[in-house]
Amino acid sequence: MTTSFYTKSQTSQQSLSLSRRPRRLRRNEAIRKMTQEAHLHVEDLIYPLFVTEGENTRVEVPSMPGSYRYTLDLLLAEVKEAYQLGIRAIALFPALDEEKKDATGSESYNPNGLVQRTIRAIKETVPDILVITDVALDPFSSQGHDGIVSEDGEILNDETVEVLVKMAVSQAAAGADIVAPSDMMDGRIGAIREGLDQAGYTNVGILAYSAKYASAYYGPFRDALDSAPKFGDKKTYQMNPANAREAVTEIDLDIQEGADMVMVKPALAYLDVIHRVREQTNLPVAAYNVSGEYSMIKAAAEKGWIDEDKIVMETLTSMKRAGADLILSYFAKQAAQLLAK
Ligand code: PBG
Repeated sequence: MTTSFYTKSQTSQQSLSLSRRPRRLRRNEAIRKMTQEAHLHVEDLIYPLFVTEGENTRVEVPSMPGSYRYTLDLLLAEVKEAYQLGIRAIALFPALDEEKKDATGSESYNPNGLVQRTIRAIKETVPDILVITDVALDPFSSQGHDGIVSEDGEILNDETVEVLVKMAVSQAAAGADIVAPSDMMDGRIGAIREGLDQAGYTNVGILAYSAKYASAYYGPFRDALDSAPKFGDKKTYQMNPANAREAVTEIDLDIQEGADMVMVKPALAYLDVIHRVREQTNLPVAAYNVSGEYSMIKAAAEKGWIDEDKIVMETLTSMKRAGADLILSYFAKQAAQLLAK
């Protein structure tokens, strides 16, 4: 052993530590695979999709290269393709025409609204894919906020929750499997659970965006839906990015109110929060690999600065390692293809 440069007192310690060689488990591909701790599976992936009015059109979101707003006919083809790749769930987000938006988001519970029609069409075309719907006012609100806005600019909680219940029930009636309230109003999970049960939709699940932060990482998504707030920001309802203990409070409340699954959003800058939430509950934990996380990777890859495929797999796997069971990602199809290789 080459210990000549150690002092006497270090020598015994050093040779002791060298009897432990963690590199043995990294020697070749087989042993690395055998000892791998976290795994990404295609079943973990939820594919978020943007739907818009019209026919035979898909428009690329400028800040999200490779992501599109689809008209319903083309969306169905995309859903089929995702299903063929092994993806078993999609999360649906509507981009509404401006004239359909109003102060109370009333289009959100129109039984023939864009979301409701889309759910029905997906269920007819690809019946086995799980349809997860967003329950929030912002795509339907002329103000671009997730809640009804009072005359003095306050985001009203309880009035908003009433609309959310109607929205969730109408999505369930159209065939949604899981509704996903994303607006961080207080008491919405309990109210939606009660509303669904009273309407007979006891089998429709709730994926609660429990720990959703007031994040700049949502920028590209708001471009996709034209849903940026018309004034102010979302800090009175979404969480302060500096807080992790508060996430535990939010998770506890949503579970008490009847959530079937909980979510942390964004994911990449909040891996510690995912980890805490994992320790806190035995329910499935979802992480949302949001638009800004997607766009950063796409932009750097376009410049040739990073290896996109490798970064995508490393990023998604890090979310599994942190404790997520499910990952919403615009990279879902790409990841499914890479997993199949
Ligand atoms: C709004 C909603 C947002 C996202 C999903 N639902 C944006 C926001 O809160 O302003 C963001 C998703 C993403 O950035 O990918 N209810």
